[in-house]
Amino acid sequence: MKVFVLFCVVLLAVAVVSAKKAKPTEEDKPKSLKKVVKECQRNEATKVDNAVLKKIKKHKPVDIPDNYGDHKLCILKGIGFINENGTVNEDNLKKRVTKKAEEGDDVNAIVTECKDPGKTAQETAIKIDTCLNKHSIDL
Ligand SMILES: *[C@@H]1O[C@H](CO)[C@@H](O)[C@H](O)[C@H]1NC(C)=O
Repeated sequence: MKVFVLFCVVLLAVAVVSAKKAKPTEEDKPKSLKKVVKECQRNEATKVDNAVLKKIKKHKPVDIPDNYGDHKLCILKGIGFINENGTVNEDNLKKRVTKKAEEGDDVNAIVTECKDPGKTAQETAIKIDTCLNKHSIDL
């Protein structure tokens, strides 16, 4: 009985240690796009109708909502392409472009083109999104 209890305590200890180890890496990872989009769409201030987003992406005629820039900014901040202060996070942008680029793509040229900021953080967000879209780089 004593041995069994000891065995259980050891098992529990191992479980606790491995659970603790797993956590930080989970938190270090940038938030997934899916999660970020969900968060931005849950907030009235940054919510844009999905049908409208689809049309914009496909360059179909649609009235661009007033909060479109806020929506994009929310998402690009969430995935780390734009810093809290509204500047472009070139490292993260480059990582993504490198990952998504196809053979023959000039990663540096795309990053240089897409990191060009707008007058406001919202404008910067829309510009980055449009630019990546143009180069077929998914967020
Ligand atoms: C904005 O924030 C980034 C990252 O936190 C920092 O590297 C950069 O210097 C800041 N820029 C300005 C203008 O505050």
